[in-house]
Amino acid sequence: MVSSDHLKPGEKGKISITVNLAGKRGNVTKRIRVHSNDPLKPITILTVKMLVKNRLHLNKYNADEIFSKKCRTCHVERGKGKSGFELFRADCGMCHNGRGTAPSIMEMRKKPAKFITKAIREGVDNTVMPGFSVKNNGPLNDPQIESLIRLIKPR
Ligand code: HEC
Ligand code: HEC
Repeated sequence: MVSSDHLKPGEKGKISITVNLAGKRGNVTKRIRVHSNDPLKPITILTVKMLVKNRLHLNKYNADEIFSKKCRTCHVERGKGKSGFELFRADCGMCHNGRGTAPSIMEMRKKPAKFITKAIREGVDNTVMPGFSVKNNGPLNDPQIESLIRLIKPR
């Protein structure tokens, strides 16, 4: 929707756009083509960029909140009884997919095993990486954590 279809040189107008976000997630880009009779620039492309988060992720969270009641369905239950790659896909992949700020498996592999073990067990300070060991109020037992360490750092 444009506020006016005729603008004098230098005059300002408004363009309202609507974006259908159904089924969209992450970075979404919408391009708008503006046609005019300006001979030097008959078409201008406007780009609107937005980050679509689902309702549960609108706030900033502390790492340990991820294991709380309203978050468990996705961040705890899916990994129950799993190990290795299956477990990684269920519990870790949503963050460690190489798209966000969390490093991918290949990036993590470069770090020493000791560091990786500590990160998984205790979490990483000042990030949303929670401590997954039972001792740190996390959902994963020792064999599960071992299986993840072996996945990230195969011997
Ligand atoms: C319906 C499933 C689901 C529920 C419920 C859920 N999450 Fe998530 N969470 C995801 C997915 C999938 C991602 C990966 C990023 C994305 O797709 O938005 C994610 C990513 C995250 C991230 C990392 C991305 C970021 O925005 O920093 C945090 C932190 C997080 N969730 C915390 C929580 C907390 C806290 C709760 C409970 C209040 C919660 N989640 C509930 C599915 C869920
Ligand atoms: C809510 C998002 C989220 C989830 C879920 C998550 N992580 Fe992380 N993880 C992070 C972030 C963020 C960092 C810190 C990156 C940094 O230092 O900037 C991190 C750091 C790490 C590190 C340290 C690696 C490095 O190179 O700094 C390891 C290892 C790790 N995570 C493993 C896992 C494993 C295994 C799981 C699943 C059991 C998991 N993470 C689940 C977000 C997450």
